[in-house]
Amino acid sequence: MARYSQEIIEDVRHANDIVEVVSGYVRLANKAGRMFGLCPFHRENTPSFSVRPDRQMYHCFGCGASGNVISFVMQIENFAFPDAVRFLAERVSYALPEPGDAEASARSQARKERMFELHKAAARYFFDTLQTPQGAAAGEYLDKRGVSASVRRRFGLGFALWQPEGLLEHLKVQGFSPEDALETGIVMPSKRGGGYSCRFGNRLIFPIIDVRGRVVGFGGRTLGDGEPKYLNSQESAVFNKSRNLYGLNLARKAKSREYILVEGYMDVISLSQAGFENSVAALGTAFNAEHAKVLKGYAESVIVAFDSDEAGERAVLKAAPLLAAEGMRVRVLRLRGAKDPDEFIKTYGAHVLADAASKAVPYIIFRIDTLRRQFDITDIEGKIGFLREASAVLAQVDSATEREVYVDAIAKISGIERSAVAKEVGVLESRLGQAPVRRTPLRYAPRRKNSDKGAENARKNLIYLAANFAQAAAQIAKFVSPQEMGDPDYALLLTTVLECHSAGRDIVPAEIVSRFDELETQRKAADVFASSLDISEPHHIERYLNDYVRIIKLHNIEEALKKPSDDQSSAENLQRLLESKRNLDKLYITI
Ligand code: UTP
Ligand code: MN
Repeated sequence: MARYSQEIIEDVRHANDIVEVVSGYVRLANKAGRMFGLCPFHRENTPSFSVRPDRQMYHCFGCGASGNVISFVMQIENFAFPDAVRFLAERVSYALPEPGDAEASARSQARKERMFELHKAAARYFFDTLQTPQGAAAGEYLDKRGVSASVRRRFGLGFALWQPEGLLEHLKVQGFSPEDALETGIVMPSKRGGGYSCRFGNRLIFPIIDVRGRVVGFGGRTLGDGEPKYLNSQESAVFNKSRNLYGLNLARKAKSREYILVEGYMDVISLSQAGFENSVAALGTAFNAEHAKVLKGYAESVIVAFDSDEAGERAVLKAAPLLAAEGMRVRVLRLRGAKDPDEFIKTYGAHVLADAASKAVPYIIFRIDTLRRQFDITDIEGKIGFLREASAVLAQVDSATEREVYVDAIAKISGIERSAVAKEVGVLESRLGQAPVRRTPLRYAPRRKNSDKGAENARKNLIYLAANFAQAAAQIAKFVSPQEMGDPDYALLLTTVLECHSAGRDIVPAEIVSRFDELETQRKAADVFASSLDISEPHHIERYLNDYVRIIKLHNIEEALKKPSDDQSSAENLQRLLESKRNLDKLYITI
């Protein structure tokens, strides 16, 4: 994902005072230079959420939430990093540059703003029309489909008349000409000479709203069996079909990190009405890799619930790997007895759907199941073919433990003996040369052991020392390498701090925090700088420094000793490790 330059991010951060931004959500009271309030991120009765205007950071002593103003917006609005930056830029009317020259981009930005406004005005008009006698047929259609009044409002559903005069009049009052409307494609020159007609004439209107709540286009459904069933806005400067997911503007507010991906407008709407607020759909185009990237900013896991026909099954086989490739956990929900989630809810109710969703199968299992249906496994050749293909699928799974589980599943699904399956998988693995290559970073890092806590604490405090004492930093640079920090985030933090020192730049925690995209890493960075280490006595610093360096190095050696290594080098390796352990006893760093 393209990232704004650190200068721009800093501009935006400086323009948005954290106290002002937080005050929009939390009532803050001043207590000795810090502002306190009730934490918006967990339930509490006494304020443990603090904001420091001097540092432009927040921290909750209750739930550990912390970061700078960008982290705050990410956390409270559930925005991904770039969306949070854009949100804050807009808040202070800061013009974020786009590629190309500044003036042209300011012009195109202004044009986009007008397009958003025009779409919003049109959406309003369509919505109002639905409530008039002229919209009665559409209203009845929605009644028939069981869409409640509040859900109609939630999604801003509307109705477009054949004649666009009323719409054009409404737009004119808002300062838009028919030419402006033409440009959006909402109206077209009338075929019968003179005047205009509406692209969505006599259709039920589904406004398409982007993640920041702006109307960017429309979908229009016939009330009968006309073709095409749905007509969508064309792509434009404000509407990119691959970057928008229907319902994401609402789903992100629900804050669950598990999403349901469906095919249709009506599926999203029905699910929302039934209480599943985290559903989204790709619009008028197949779910693609760019959609997966967008969704990744919001979802940790996704349940794919596409239509139950064959096309739906094929679409699952395309979409699921794209989601998995972004590091999301993917499960597949195949509906039985209904063509899509909308019909399923109508037929069986929300509870049955919830139950089915909880039993959605991991994508790999789904994939294996589709394979089994492709082969006739009662026949020996079919059996071999199936086993080959299935083991190739398993080769995509990173974890050996997980692969074991799937071997069991394959045996169960196919009725082939477990040992035969395991053998085939083993053959494939050795053919691929050892363990399969990890293709995507593991999203769920294994839980930390308690004994790692000490080392983690030492890493944090070491960075804190480096940040606050130039002499300590100089020695740390000499004695500790970033790799020894045992974690890429801490490694990058240490490098950043050391670089600031050597370039003679001030170390500004709030600035360093927004070098990271992920909320979790931002919190980690903020935590480092919020350390409560007592550094008032200069002679303590040397002692701390030595303690932390020793803890970190010892931990690394012990971890290395635990690791099984191959036979030839293991003796040598052991020697080397024990040697460094002895050297560690002699190490004393003075500052
Ligand atoms: P479906 O036909 O499954 O839509 O197409 P649906 O939402 O279940 O329709 P209902 O329940 O009959 O109203 C899935 C999606 O594909 C797109 C739309 O986004 C639709 O929601 N589509 C479908 C089109 O863009 N144009 C079409 O003509 C049909
Ligand atoms: Mn459908």
